[in-house]
Amino acid sequence: MSRTVHVDLGERSYEIHIGSDLLPGGALAGEAGIRALIVSDSHVDPLYGARCEAVLRRQGIEPRRTVVPAGEASKELPQVQRLYEAALDAGLDRRSVIVALGGGMIGDLAGFVAATYLRGVRFVQVPTSLLAMVDSSVGGKTGINLPRGKNLVGAFYQPVEVTADMSVLESLPPREYRSGLAEVVKYGVIWDAEFFADLEAKAEGLLGREASLLEGVVTRCCEIKAEVVGLDERESGVRAVLNFGHTLAHALETRFGYRDLLHGEAIAVGMAFAAELSVAVKGFSREDGNRLIRLLRRLELPVSLSELKEPVTWDTVRDLMRSDKKARQSVPRFVLAERLGSVIFGCTVPEEVQQSVFASFPRE
Ligand SMILES: NC(=O)c1ccc[n+]([C@@H]2O[C@H](COP(=O)([O-])OP(=O)(O)OC[C@H]3O[C@@H](n4cnc5c(N)ncnc54)[C@H](O)[C@@H]3O)[C@@H](O)[C@H]2O)c1
Repeated sequence: MSRTVHVDLGERSYEIHIGSDLLPGGALAGEAGIRALIVSDSHVDPLYGARCEAVLRRQGIEPRRTVVPAGEASKELPQVQRLYEAALDAGLDRRSVIVALGGGMIGDLAGFVAATYLRGVRFVQVPTSLLAMVDSSVGGKTGINLPRGKNLVGAFYQPVEVTADMSVLESLPPREYRSGLAEVVKYGVIWDAEFFADLEAKAEGLLGREASLLEGVVTRCCEIKAEVVGLDERESGVRAVLNFGHTLAHALETRFGYRDLLHGEAIAVGMAFAAELSVAVKGFSREDGNRLIRLLRRLELPVSLSELKEPVTWDTVRDLMRSDKKARQSVPRFVLAERLGSVIFGCTVPEEVQQSVFASFPRE
């Protein structure tokens, strides 16, 4: 059985298919003879590359595979250049399609190549990490890092289809899996208190990757992301709620590098910080703040600075938050919670409040 979520963006609308044993390329049915380039990384290609290729071949599509080294370091310009060459070698033309088979790194990189090669060729997302399934494969943000910062070059470019096959999550390393759970929790906080309560009820099953739970949970996350992106495709307003926890998280990612601290781990600490700021300035209840922190702990995610590899000082974090892409006139912006399921974006917080919360969070 599979479930489908529709992303409603006018002529750029598409479907997300969620289930097991799914076949990528449904959106390309009836297009036998077109060429495809499957872009994957060195961990995922050996596991699923041949299967993806066979599925496309059965539909009469002519696929080629190309592989980049696994890891965030591949999300940079040299790999973009290499993938343009691979696309040319594979004879990709305007009717062709690029298939991103991998986690968020591959989706962002291959999506950017698809957005720019021949001024844009179609693009299918086959997310293989939990984070990519619930977040990065949906919504059309593609891009690469520059040596001076993350995601500094990119394009809004929607895929024509997203296919999330739950069975591939079995091979995802445990730390990567838990990192994806942080984004799952985020959806409950920003949009849906009932979903949050559901996650509290199912935390142990989720941690155990129970397939019966996962399909429903990934579907709900995709529905929320689709709804938010449908309201504000290019982040001129409400889409910013998706950045709950991200202000501190981005600073921590820059400070620690992406290997020592995974994106979801940084988000978990960032959400604990944002929850405490929300208690301090937005009337978010102590009890709801504690519920969030307890859920993150049950999912074995970090919620405090003491769980990070090395100490990090307020001065370092303050400077990094001031220079964040989303800061305005060097004043960091936060997404803060009023209650579970409802947040406000674009908030400023007096610096002395930030500093005092930073010194002693979480209070739970
Ligand atoms: N575009 C967006 O909206 C958006 C949103 C959030 C994050 N991102 C980006 O996503 C990236 C992080 O994504 P990620 O956490 O998926 O990282 P990732 O793509 O680096 O994948 C994490 C690791 O898991 C491996 N892996 C993936 N699927 C696997 C599977 N099924 N089995 C075994 N191994 C598997 C990968 O090879 C890699 O080593 C960052 O670059 C971040 O900037 C983008």
